[in-house]
Amino acid sequence: MKQLNIATNNAHKITEIRNILPEFKIMGLKDLGILADIEENGHTLEDNALIKAKYLHRLTNEMSIGEDTGLEVKALSGEPGVKSARYAGPKCDANDNQNKLLRQLEGVQDRTARFRTVIAVVNRDGSFQIFEGKVNGQISESKRGTNGFGYDPIFIPDGYDMTFGEMAEDEKNKMSHRARAVEKLMEYFKILDQ
Ligand code: IMP
Repeated sequence: MKQLNIATNNAHKITEIRNILPEFKIMGLKDLGILADIEENGHTLEDNALIKAKYLHRLTNEMSIGEDTGLEVKALSGEPGVKSARYAGPKCDANDNQNKLLRQLEGVQDRTARFRTVIAVVNRDGSFQIFEGKVNGQISESKRGTNGFGYDPIFIPDGYDMTFGEMAEDEKNKMSHRARAVEKLMEYFKILDQ
């Protein structure tokens, strides 16, 4: 079984990536015995994904993956974007972030948004590649559903009437921003194997 080392402590992300890639052994930081909280101080999702992948590569000298995701809202000029994790403040949780976003959009008609995931892979030799996956949608008027994590209860992907929070996990993982970025990573691996 091919192993993928991912520079994250986010158990939800690891579960999703395991679900998307059952044929891989997915190892997060804790699984690798690395106790680290990597500082995500980049200005873009791309910067942060690469910071995480390079950090893990420095420690292991193995191929390393970094992943960063943001929710980009049109009426807020792309915010919270790279600040999605700490949108409501340094010690906020998902609930605080959802509340703040719903407040910011009170009375706003255009609720267009997109989730964007950036995956960086740093190869053993230190060279790297970046892949992106996006899903367009709308911010709902209120929270709906308890599945998923983060902003899932307030995001309705285009073509659906339900939020990611109301959607079965398998369904989200078939078409999510994360699944699309992972798909591109797999295409890259196929090219490397040729
Ligand atoms: P990060 O990529 O770990 O920095 O996550 C940024 C923020 O987006 C955090 O608040 C996450 O909870 C949230 N987030 C990341 N991925 C998803 C997702 O697939 N659905 C909903 N929220 C997400």
